[in-house]
Amino acid sequence: MGKIKTKWVCQNCGYETASYLGKCPDCGRYSTFTEEAVQNSVEIKSNISSMNIKPVNDTGYTKIKDVAADKSIRISSRMEELDRVLGGGFVEGSLCLLAGDPGIGKSTLTLQTARNISEQNKTILYICAEESTAQVKLRAQRLNADSENLYVTQQNCIEEIIAQIEKLKPDFLVVDSIQSVFSASILSSTGSVSQIRECTNILMRLSKQFNITTIIIGHVTKEGNIAGPKVLEHMVDCVLNFEGEKYKTIRILRAIKNRFGAVSEVGVFNMEDTGLVEVKNPSELFLSDRENQTTSGSTIIPVLEGTRCLLLEIQALTGATPYPNPRRVARGVEYDRLLQILAVLEKRVGLNLSKQDVYINVIGGIDVMEPAADLGIALAVLTSARDITINQNTVCFGEIGLNGEIRSADNIEARLKEAQKLGFRRAIIPKINSNRIKERIQKIGIEIIEVSKITDAIKNI
Ligand code: TYD
Ligand code: MG
Repeated sequence: MGKIKTKWVCQNCGYETASYLGKCPDCGRYSTFTEEAVQNSVEIKSNISSMNIKPVNDTGYTKIKDVAADKSIRISSRMEELDRVLGGGFVEGSLCLLAGDPGIGKSTLTLQTARNISEQNKTILYICAEESTAQVKLRAQRLNADSENLYVTQQNCIEEIIAQIEKLKPDFLVVDSIQSVFSASILSSTGSVSQIRECTNILMRLSKQFNITTIIIGHVTKEGNIAGPKVLEHMVDCVLNFEGEKYKTIRILRAIKNRFGAVSEVGVFNMEDTGLVEVKNPSELFLSDRENQTTSGSTIIPVLEGTRCLLLEIQALTGATPYPNPRRVARGVEYDRLLQILAVLEKRVGLNLSKQDVYINVIGGIDVMEPAADLGIALAVLTSARDITINQNTVCFGEIGLNGEIRSADNIEARLKEAQKLGFRRAIIPKINSNRIKERIQKIGIEIIEVSKITDAIKNI
């Protein structure tokens, strides 16, 4: 037997090279290369060809007008929060990747989904590649999920999994997790990019051929990426990220990619003793600790997450620094954005922060990406630095330009409605040019203060 030829593969993006590299030239990450065996594609193809995929006709191609349109039947998870993120439920025959840190609740969410779907007379096969079936049973009992149509199997080998799927012909498949599944035809170790890529490829073909709706669970690596994220993301139909803080029970589900819906939607859950419970009104929860609070450096901003508006509290703390370079810490907001806002405050408002540390935190563990949060961040920093409080009943939003101008935001009406619903009575917002919108928001019943400059906003806090 000859010596096995090897190659070095970046475990983040799949870049291949003949020798070890410290930094990946493609994705720029360090120490991501591992050695894998070189295989020619004929060997790998063997198990895919055994799946016997048939061409549409003798030639293999068809006129597009003759192709039967996919009806895209949606399967409801019976959890509104999950369905919304998916764009109205799972599309039959689609493959969805659920990614998140270990212990965040991926298996819990999928098991609850499996329970709800099995109650709709669908057969489900749950592949436990990480835990024993007895461990899954324990969790299932806790979640009240030991239902009739739910089958479990402890299996890591994809070829065996294919055989079981062919026997059971399930409507729904769960693979927990993709990093623990391997193909016998690949020489690389379990969890390597080659293995993950090949196994996902096979599952994708299976789901399309037999019309099996599939969820694959993927762990996130230390750097916060799904192992081999680039290679997986483009293959699957939908990528959902499950996020949350380690010591908090709030969990946020976010679509990063969705071939059948919008990617901006979020779902909010709370991890309780009996599993994940949907949070229908997250703003209430995020603001629940705020009662009777009169400290400086806190603002409330309405942010849009897909079709929904959430009210979030932004906290800032400034203080004299013992270091030559002051610290800037941004939790939940972009670091560069914070620096830009601080620069505008220094230049346009005259707030001297060069000897001050600045800490920013968004309560609830949500990352705020919207530029409309700028005004909330700026006012939080300013009130902390000057040790004043912003009016308790006020929300604010608007993007801040480099000249200190406040730029308009999308969907002002939805933001004001959410604020009004939660008892806020004042809103500092960007100037509105359209009379039509002006008329509409006047009816909401909240005092509106339109500002065009950061200095105007400060006069009104
Ligand atoms: P799990 O779904 O196993 O996480 P993952 O699959 O993402 O690794 O969830 C593990 C955590 O969830 C564990 O710390 C216990 C907690 N948990 C609850 O709080 N309530 C529950 O009903 C269940 C099933 C788990
Ligand atoms: Mg798990």
